[in-house]
Amino acid sequence: MGMNYSKIANWIIAEDSFNPETLGKCEAIMSLGNGYLGVRSATEEHYLNETRGMFVAGTFNKFDKNEVTELPNAADLIAVDLFIDGERFALDSGKIESYTRELNIKTGVLSRSTVWTGSSGKKVNAKFERIVSLKRLHTIAQRITLSFSNDVTVKIHSGIDGTMTNTGSQHFSDGDKRFYDKKYIQYVQETTQSGIAFVETAVHELRLDDNLLEMPAEVFIERRKVYAGYTIEVKSGQILVIEKYSNIYTTRDKGYKEKDIHEMQEISLDACKTDIQTGYDALVAESAAQWGKEVWDKAPISIEGVKDAVIDEFAVHFAQYHMRLMVPSHDNRMNIGAKGLSGEGYKGHTFWDTEIFLLPYYIFTDPHTARKLEEYRYLSLPGAHAKAKHNGYKGAMFPWEAAWLDDGEVTPEYCDVDILTGKPVKVWSGFIEQHITSDVAFGVWQYAVITGDEDFMEQYGYELIMDTAIFWASRLEEGKDSKYHINDVVGPDEYREHVNDNAFTNYMAHWNMKKAMEYYHILKDKKPEIFARLDKKFKLDEAYKTWEDRCRKIFLPVPNNENVLPQDDRYLSCKDIDLEKYKKQEHVGGITRDYNLEQINQIQVSKQADCLVLFFLLENEFSQEVKKASWAYYEKRTLHDSSLSFSTHSVLASDMGKKKLAYNLFKKASMIDLGTFMGSSNAGIHAASFGGVWECVVYGFGGVRMLDGKLRIRPTLPDEWNKLSYTIIWKGQKLAVKATKNGIDVQNLTKTAEVEVEINGEVCVL
Ligand code: BGC
Repeated sequence: MGMNYSKIANWIIAEDSFNPETLGKCEAIMSLGNGYLGVRSATEEHYLNETRGMFVAGTFNKFDKNEVTELPNAADLIAVDLFIDGERFALDSGKIESYTRELNIKTGVLSRSTVWTGSSGKKVNAKFERIVSLKRLHTIAQRITLSFSNDVTVKIHSGIDGTMTNTGSQHFSDGDKRFYDKKYIQYVQETTQSGIAFVETAVHELRLDDNLLEMPAEVFIERRKVYAGYTIEVKSGQILVIEKYSNIYTTRDKGYKEKDIHEMQEISLDACKTDIQTGYDALVAESAAQWGKEVWDKAPISIEGVKDAVIDEFAVHFAQYHMRLMVPSHDNRMNIGAKGLSGEGYKGHTFWDTEIFLLPYYIFTDPHTARKLEEYRYLSLPGAHAKAKHNGYKGAMFPWEAAWLDDGEVTPEYCDVDILTGKPVKVWSGFIEQHITSDVAFGVWQYAVITGDEDFMEQYGYELIMDTAIFWASRLEEGKDSKYHINDVVGPDEYREHVNDNAFTNYMAHWNMKKAMEYYHILKDKKPEIFARLDKKFKLDEAYKTWEDRCRKIFLPVPNNENVLPQDDRYLSCKDIDLEKYKKQEHVGGITRDYNLEQINQIQVSKQADCLVLFFLLENEFSQEVKKASWAYYEKRTLHDSSLSFSTHSVLASDMGKKKLAYNLFKKASMIDLGTFMGSSNAGIHAASFGGVWECVVYGFGGVRMLDGKLRIRPTLPDEWNKLSYTIIWKGQKLAVKATKNGIDVQNLTKTAEVEVEINGEVCVL
């Protein structure tokens, strides 16, 4: 997968040779979806190393008591097996004359073309195309176009395959299998623990030289499988077209919850009938138009510059493509998984990735979706309360990994094997990576300020800020120095476990309580009804006193003589080792193959940005000197073993005026999934890194920031770019920004209100 500039300029990412060893890469990065449904781009025909995957947002199931809940891999709808004169069409045998697979991110169409000769010498010219509709959230449409150099008999086996598992864990019990009108295939399955029924329906339409083939299907019903068989005689030069229309509905879908399963079977069947009537081309056109409406016209970004700028522009569009695929904007009971809906990795769970890395994109471009993501946090308060209670604290303690609303903490307890002891490695994040609670509060505040959505704050936001602040007040520990400390945590840098006073955690907890105090006054003065409601719940006067006391006495780490902010109480006194080998590594996590986590904890080494994220979020709290000195100190010791790391480094490098560095780091961030590393995306794309790419462009080079409630734009374009254009929405007003090397132009496109913005140091009203 090289960089083909002309394809990239046409919004197309392409694979130009077939390699059965590295299927996972394209399955993930070329996946299709719409936030409801995510489908890995496994090929129609089967291969040994394939990982088929189809996930429906929010449908969590716990396989057994030893596993945590995860998104189950639904019955496959994509596979179509072709037999040409008895020989299976498969590119790992026979001879490939030409091959290309392309994803057009503008329209969401995946296509693959090949000329292949089987071992019996029969040559086929094949084109495979498919979409997951952005317009009809349940619909998948496929088209296969075949022509042959000989007269052949083509056999097709295609239907629904319920033998899918999550790497061996079978989440479903087998249900109804149906054939309607000898044409429509239907399969019902139900998750074993959460009891969610999935209904899938599929139908085929066949045409030979444009003539509809009205043949009944041969019906195959097997254990967990139902499929149709067709046998067709095709003459040399004739064109055979196979279209497959399929859909999926679940009892978790909003609106279908109370209906009985038979009714849902009807709905799925009817939808399939409508889709086949609509036809493949119309479904594609309608979905592509929706891509324009929801993404490209809504949040256009363009970059002009040297030759590579076309790749940079594509990288940010690619990020936008995936950020639409991953977000369940149709349902506020769901959130974004760390791998989106593109693979089993991280089990579909939601992390701080949402608030800190992804939310800014949605807030600034699609506030309705951003609101849903924050409503999810409100709706999952029961789980946060349960976690606090379980740990002996008060208020809302958000889970490090979150799934269904009342699941609470779902981080697995163990992973990997310790390279020294051979024992399972305990994952401490679920117990002590606690900064997630203030990250959630920070997300609420960001959303509220940037959108000005007072209704959200009144219904959910104020309560979330108070509830999280109550947690922190109960979490702090009074030390012998009469200061309040936060001991025994994991900060953002997960290579350091059981540390005390992680700067990020302490400063953010402090921020959280301060914000609650500020809102206390606002509500008391201006919104007495909301105050009264929350007072009833939280006894606000008492809570306020505690926050005041905690904020006065909380220990906030201060920079050392060299202006470096200590990441925690031990970091700066740990030993330094030569990290060159790991800094140059091709695959992440190299250090964990040489040292176990206990040893890593004794070394000045970081997995990812930690203090630097703090500088990014609370920009005005730290001086330039502290930021610069700390950036230099920690970057040297950071292995960027998390995909969240490069973007933060890049944005801060932009802020410090280090253009070259910022650009190089942006390049690294943008190549995490798009680049040529073949194994790292197998378990799914890196959701937060896509938010990070947008942040590098719009926050970093574009210079956008919300600071203390105000909007600031201060672009610093890299030397490689001549022009950067983007739009952002500030309190309902859409602003179009065009930045060049010589200046900046900002227009208010909405013009229903004035916008105050600081542009390159000057306050303007638009
Ligand atoms: C990172 C976390 C992140 C998680 C999910 C981990 O490797 O260290 O910061 O939240 O991946 O993306």
